[in-house]
Amino acid sequence: MKHFTIVSVLIILLTIIVYIFLQSVGLLPIQASSQAIIIDQLFDIHIGIIAFLFSLISVFIGYSLIVFRRNKQFPDEDGKHVTGSSKLEIVWTLVPLGVVIFISYLGALSLAETRKVEPQALAVNVTGGQWYWSFTYPDYGITSDVLYLPVDRQVKLSLTSVDVIHSFWVPEFRVKQDVLPGENFVKELRFTPIEKGDYMVLCAELCGGAHAYMNSPVKVVTEVNFQDWVDEELGNFPQDPVSLGERLSKNNGCFGCHSIDGSDGVGPTWKSVFGSEKSLVSGEKIIVDEEYLYDSIINPNSQIVLGYPANVMAQNYVDLFTEEEINNMIEFIKSLE
Ligand code: CUA
Repeated sequence: MKHFTIVSVLIILLTIIVYIFLQSVGLLPIQASSQAIIIDQLFDIHIGIIAFLFSLISVFIGYSLIVFRRNKQFPDEDGKHVTGSSKLEIVWTLVPLGVVIFISYLGALSLAETRKVEPQALAVNVTGGQWYWSFTYPDYGITSDVLYLPVDRQVKLSLTSVDVIHSFWVPEFRVKQDVLPGENFVKELRFTPIEKGDYMVLCAELCGGAHAYMNSPVKVVTEVNFQDWVDEELGNFPQDPVSLGERLSKNNGCFGCHSIDGSDGVGPTWKSVFGSEKSLVSGEKIIVDEEYLYDSIINPNSQIVLGYPANVMAQNYVDLFTEEEINNMIEFIKSLE
């Protein structure tokens, strides 16, 4: 009984220390959505249970190693044989069962709460591709590479992929959703930002070479600032081919692979590319002209520059863009001297 009392006290003490330690190291970023608060309550319970289990096991092992080591009191002989204890087995089956059922009950409540539908939610269509995110606001007719959101208003994302499986994740909002290709698999994700600030959408599903760089900014702003942004996007629409081309390239994620400052990427940089000489994987040498750029957009695998991978660019830009849009992008590339 003496041993049992000492061990119990040690377990309680160590549980408290481990729990306080885990709470203080900052395992999670700030809570920037109302869903984050609910989800963190679950994390909190789990951290408590983890601290207890860790203490239970390590105190029992440590105590046994030190107190019951071989000495004069416990000479080198076999201990008492114990064949089983039904009472103990029932207890260690029922207690964890009860705990697990309780946690799944809390999980179900939290899941329902995080998915609560609010009718005035802002609709945003999210497209993931290798390797970019693109955001379309159907109510405003805006496409952007930055996810602008008004604070304290629920957003309803409809997510789809143009190629492989990606995963939409903003750690500060806690919620995460796989993004699948195919129009039958459009996924919905709702959350309510509650903290203004700058965040990042990450991709949480290994999706190829530049997966780690598949980030896009998220800006949570006041309702007024959000309206300003909408007006600016709609009003200041540039009309010259170079600006139109730049806008189109930016919003469709071209800069995820092609830099415009000369730095190397998954694809060749666009800086000074027009008029330059390139060696192709076929062994051929070409001068980059309008025709080459046009072919490379609509049929990316036809003339791959030596040293760069094939099958990286989407093959459907010919359906996605009009001829005029492609020509605008070429004008933009030409402008990058
Ligand atoms: Cu997209 Cu990883």
